Amino acid sequence: MDYKFQYSAAISLKWIKDNMMGLVFPDITKQGDRIQKNFKGVIVSKNNVPVGMILGLSDMNLKDFRIMSFRVKPDHSNNKLGFRLLIALEENLKKEGFERLELQFRSHWKSLFVLEKLLQKTKWKQPEFNMKICQSLVEQAFPVFHRGHQLPNDYTFTSWKLVSDQEKKDIKKQHDQNRWYPEEVSPFILTDIIEPEVSLALRFKGQIVGWLIIHQISTETLEYTSLFIDEAHRSFKMGHLLMGEGILSQSNQNKFPKFLFTVKATNRLMLKFIDRNGPSNGMVVTDIFKAEKKLLP
Ligand SMILES: CC(C)(COP(=O)(O)OP(=O)(O)OC[C@H]1O[C@@H](n2cnc3c(N)ncnc32)[C@H](O)[C@@H]1OP(=O)(O)O)[C@@H](O)C(=O)NCCC(=O)NCCS
Repeated sequence: MDYKFQYSAAISLKWIKDNMMGLVFPDITKQGDRIQKNFKGVIVSKNNVPVGMILGLSDMNLKDFRIMSFRVKPDHSNNKLGFRLLIALEENLKKEGFERLELQFRSHWKSLFVLEKLLQKTKWKQPEFNMKICQSLVEQAFPVFHRGHQLPNDYTFTSWKLVSDQEKKDIKKQHDQNRWYPEEVSPFILTDIIEPEVSLALRFKGQIVGWLIIHQISTETLEYTSLFIDEAHRSFKMGHLLMGEGILSQSNQNKFPKFLFTVKATNRLMLKFIDRNGPSNGMVVTDIFKAEKKLLP
């Protein structure tokens, strides 16, 4: 009997968790509550047993689609199933009006060469370095970010839980008026998983001029997600001090042993800093690449 390919536009995370864990890669279920939408994807089966799956999520405007998981069982690999899954997904998404596909992968994945071959064969653009993920035990981060710098006069840190509702309204207002911060460092993303005791606000003469928003991404790990400092108060040292203070408060809180943050390919200064100080202090640094494909009608 031949392989059967089936597309679905609404696959829930719960169903995947209950039925398909052997066909998930990377482990999207680790993202827990951060995924609230249904997936779209293709499952390939033989004798009614699933042996491969490709899954992803659409953006809000239903034009961009991001592949989040892609796996073929080892005993069925090298049978063109990966190729056929990718093509079947593309064809279905095109019919639904999607215009772009995106996929991110990590440089250390074992079958990276297979994935790269597949992307080339299906005419994706050449993948580009997108960011670094840096992670370690919180103690290992001390020598990286805590080097005895002093916070300059008139600046103070406050725990995010002490930032009042009125101050949050003021941040929103200031942003609405003059696009104060880039959206990706908004302090209002995924507010239900913000760790309020460890997250920080930076004040200058009492006024909030920056923040470090930290999310709980697992029972062990905090992600230092949004670091923002108002342009007038910006310096590399200031970002450094905020990170150091966050690490200190995570360590003092003594609840989460690990921490993680990402550095974008455009942040040259920080990339250099991590190359010099990360791995030598036990930090695990992973390169993430991003590939894209335009879907022509
Ligand atoms: C990536 C993956 C889904 C591809 O599935 P697949 O069904 O084996 O892929 P295909 O059979 O379509 O092979 C694609 C190409 O790689 C080659 N290839 C596949 N497995 C190979 C192997 N073990 N050794 C050498 N080449 C191999 C194929 O020959 C083919 O190249 P060709 O078109 O020049 O012949 C599968 O390798 C996998 O599950 N890997 C682990 C999870 C992973 O890394 N997923 C990516 C997440 S984005």
